[in-house]
Amino acid sequence: MTDNKKFIPLAIPAIQGKEWEYIKDCLDTGWVSSAGSYVNKFEQVVAEYVGCNHAVACSSGTAALHTALMVAGIGADDEVLMPTITFVAPANAVRYTGAYPVFMDIQPDTWQLDTNKVKDFLLKECDVKDGQCVNKHTQRNVKAILPVHILGHPVDIDPILELAKKFNLIVIEDAAESIGAIYKEKKVGAIGDIGCFSFNGNKIITAGGGGMLVTNNQQWAEKARYLTTQAKDEPVESIHNAIGYNYRLTNIQAAMGVAQMECLDKYIEVKRAIAERYFEGLADVAGITLPQEKEWAQSIYWLYTVLIDQNKYGMTSRDLLKKFSECGIETRPLWHPLHRLAPFKDCYAYDICVADDLYTKALSIPSSIELSVDSQQRVIEIIQGAFKG
Ligand SMILES: Cc1ncc(COP(=O)(O)O)c(C=O)c1O
Repeated sequence: MTDNKKFIPLAIPAIQGKEWEYIKDCLDTGWVSSAGSYVNKFEQVVAEYVGCNHAVACSSGTAALHTALMVAGIGADDEVLMPTITFVAPANAVRYTGAYPVFMDIQPDTWQLDTNKVKDFLLKECDVKDGQCVNKHTQRNVKAILPVHILGHPVDIDPILELAKKFNLIVIEDAAESIGAIYKEKKVGAIGDIGCFSFNGNKIITAGGGGMLVTNNQQWAEKARYLTTQAKDEPVESIHNAIGYNYRLTNIQAAMGVAQMECLDKYIEVKRAIAERYFEGLADVAGITLPQEKEWAQSIYWLYTVLIDQNKYGMTSRDLLKKFSECGIETRPLWHPLHRLAPFKDCYAYDICVADDLYTKALSIPSSIELSVDSQQRVIEIIQGAFKG
């Protein structure tokens, strides 16, 4: 089969480190479940890497988010401000607690949470009563802001931190897609009060599945560890004083996670090199807008994503997706704006106008670590319209 006919996936794992060795160690020693040294090691390396005092491994990024919300005290009928353009997991996690997302627009240049609109919303649409911020429209208490660093690029988070301080809100970063991305010399996930990562199979590094919560708040970390391990107060007599969860990562997954963490910096370099080739190859294509890396940011380019302007390019993002699909190349639109989805119809959405346009125009293109230069050239040529099949 020539390279021209090979299926090109969107983003698949790269297994280039000591995964076999560490997983074999789990099997050889019998430490296969959620106790074992790799779980501790994984927590330690992630905490050190991002620069946080505590890390708690979880069975998924979604579980980490749910746990983060619980330890931060978010509960029934509270509200959490978050972007409408993101994978659905953080919005689901908010609903698990009985709280409601308030959906916010995204910035037209970075495609991340629009900090100006967050500010407008808090200043114009909320009242502060006894230090508590209340959404005038729903009368619910706004308790937290949940910025999601989508696609590998950081949110402009300093203004969020300022607003959070002013309005007494907790900042929970969803850095599931962006481990290793840098905002003004700080690693995302370690900037707000709590951060969450995902090690799902399509992320830059994977544990086959898994997540991690990081924080500098020791009490929250302890509570997270307690809640994610079935809230055992007295294990011998099985005393549980809270509703717990089976959210703990297994040692086998953690072993893979440790091996992948050892590769992370190398993988970020590879992702940035892939992005560089896309920037070069697509720079002059009329009607295609390329992602921006802000001067205060270092993106990990988890999924390289372009915007397609039908009027100038001659086809829609969905037409191009179909063309790619016919050539055996996997691409994907961005996520449906969450405020338009049935489970969130009762949630408040504030002044959303950029998100729909982004959703219509965006297409994520192959970005796997092991994407070959030849395969990437095929992708570029298809977009350039010069591909000869
Ligand atoms: C932004 C975002 N948040 C949360 C998650 C959930 O992570 P997981 O799949 O590990 O539950 C994902 C992806 O999977 C994600 O992309």
